[in-house]
Amino acid sequence: MNYRHAFHAGNYADALKHALFVRLLRALQQKEKGLVVVDTHAGRGSYDLSLASEGDSRARTPEWPDGIGRLWDRTDLPPEVEDYVALVRGFDRSRGNLSDRPRFYPGSPALGRLLARPQDRLELWERHPAECAALRAAFEGAPRVSIHEADGYGAARACLPPREKRALVLIDPPFEAADEWAQVTACLSAGLVRLPSATFAVWYPLTGRARVDALVAFLESARAPAFAAEVIAEPGAARMRGCGVAVVNPPWKFEAQARAVASYLAGVFEPERGASSSVRWIVPE
Ligand SMILES: C[S@@+](CC[C@H](N)C(=O)[O-])C[C@H]1O[C@@H](n2cnc3c(N)ncnc32)[C@H](O)[C@@H]1O
Repeated sequence: MNYRHAFHAGNYADALKHALFVRLLRALQQKEKGLVVVDTHAGRGSYDLSLASEGDSRARTPEWPDGIGRLWDRTDLPPEVEDYVALVRGFDRSRGNLSDRPRFYPGSPALGRLLARPQDRLELWERHPAECAALRAAFEGAPRVSIHEADGYGAARACLPPREKRALVLIDPPFEAADEWAQVTACLSAGLVRLPSATFAVWYPLTGRARVDALVAFLESARAPAFAAEVIAEPGAARMRGCGVAVVNPPWKFEAQARAVASYLAGVFEPERGASSSVRWIVPE
């Protein structure tokens, strides 16, 4: 449990994940009926980017300048990305940042809270005690939010099916442990059994060790409609060359939105290094 999201907050991987998360939630909210957002790996809720290089024994280079930093002043944002950037800007300002650089960055719990309607609920799972304590402090007194300091892979069993019978489940692990890919598919499998219509978004890294093939094979066997949106930001990188989000049971025509997000982000992040994007169906609608 060494992972601290603060170092990575607002990087290009967060931008892909959060832009898609925002659009997914908006799409599901087209229906009046309430839903539950289950965040299996919630983190601390939001991040102070001015501290992004601190937190353990060695100094690090903050990653947000190559993520949200590259989007901050763009004037050509497509609506699918503008929505996310506007939410981040609003959050940043509401926390008191008056500078022209981003400082306060909302994680998935804060974005979920910004968008939740009175009929929606958040179920936030975070196993790291310090991260979970920060999450609790940030959400103190917030209505319709449950916080669990526990293994988020248990969230599908514990939270599904919800009384609303509608759910968006974000699975966003650190991918530190060797069995993480197997845990992700086990969690998806449990969730699909309990609420076959739930929408799942799984973030994953593209590294030499990544087991995307195992995730894809599982999704093919699960037979629920699913696609993967990927951004290769640094084709030659020795560690993470890119990342993806697999969306299971996407809202109708959501793939076009994912395509717009992924292709715009690839164009903005690393065009000089040959960045690219793709959206491919694993199980067609
Ligand atoms: C990538 S970060 C989450 C970021 C967050 N979803 C967001 O978008 O703002 C992964 C988080 O998972 C936590 N974590 C690691 N293993 C976990 C587990 N088994 N269950 C729940 N949380 C876990 C880490 O402490 C870390 O805060």
